[in-house]
Amino acid sequence: MRPYSRIVGTGGYLPPRRVTNDELAADLAKRGVETSDEWIVERTGIHARHFAAPDVTSSDLAEQASRRALEAADVAPGEIDLIIVATSTPDMVFPSTACILQHKLGIAGCPAFDVQAVCSGFVYALAVADAMVQAGTARCALVVGAEVFSRILDFSDRTTCVLFGDGAGAVVLKASDTPGILASDLHADGQHVGLLCVPGHVSGGAVLGSPLLTMDGQAVFKLAVSVLEKTAHATLQKAGVTESAVDWLVPHQANIRIMQSTARRLHLPMDKVVVTVGEHGNTSAASIPLALDHAVRDGSIRPGQNVLIEGVGGGFTWGSMLVKM
Ligand code: ACO
Repeated sequence: MRPYSRIVGTGGYLPPRRVTNDELAADLAKRGVETSDEWIVERTGIHARHFAAPDVTSSDLAEQASRRALEAADVAPGEIDLIIVATSTPDMVFPSTACILQHKLGIAGCPAFDVQAVCSGFVYALAVADAMVQAGTARCALVVGAEVFSRILDFSDRTTCVLFGDGAGAVVLKASDTPGILASDLHADGQHVGLLCVPGHVSGGAVLGSPLLTMDGQAVFKLAVSVLEKTAHATLQKAGVTESAVDWLVPHQANIRIMQSTARRLHLPMDKVVVTVGEHGNTSAASIPLALDHAVRDGSIRPGQNVLIEGVGGGFTWGSMLVKM
């Protein structure tokens, strides 16, 4: 019989520098960019975000989150036989941040690779790890979302730079006789590449095109709300359950209004939704595992409960997963 895969430990890490909206607004004002705590809170629900120091990379954040997840799972680094890192802000063009993380964890030999699906990256990475565990290719996987989005923000563009933050979250996924991941659903539609992108690329020793994030916020908002509802229903259908089986929704933490709208469409009250965007901002691929870890550690999410996770991001990519903890 094919094994199931089960999350046996979670971890999260935020770089120590917390930047409030007021601090960010004061910094931006020096550049002639006007914003306010009031505007940011009302439109997004964000109060603060964390920014990594200039010499700190995604793999540094990933290492801290991974060590916490390994400790929670009571798993030694040497037991890991697969590493997948979801990131859009890798340490290098190559090799992968997963390989760099592997070395920082003091292990070698197991497969390690990155997944690039922007803010849906963690859902994609967990779905791939689940498939590899079910196929018998791995028995103890480390799945990480890690980002230093502050590096790709255009601090002259108030419509984007107030939204994002840095951080990392991780889970340890083990083969199990009892179900953990119950169903998943992944999608992409490349016709929307231009809605949310960092268009620059390295060529001949220089960056061609802008290396900074650009986004059509309103178009992203509308698309996000529509696809998140569809993918959530698809996952619940695959698992053979209805909305009433969901104990917790752990959505990608982009904007409180997107989360409220999704919860409404899924007939879930907001007290079943894990919300960390207020303190984390949007940490892209790190946002779901950071939120999951937060709710596990504060005792909200308990063993045996059904958690629906869902992500949406550049690409356009989106997906969801139902997980029994
Ligand atoms: N501070 C003050 N004013 C601002 C700011 C700011 N930071 N940003 C925009 N404004 C102004 C605009 O210039 C505009 O002014 P105007 O009316 O004089 O032209 C006004 O506020 C309204 O702007 P809108 O763009 O209409 O504001 P909206 O209510 O749509 O909110 C936002 C913008 C927050 C970006 C919203 O569209 C949104 O959340 N979109 C989804 C974005 C998102 O979640 N992206 C990530 C998802 S995928 C991923 O995570 C990578």
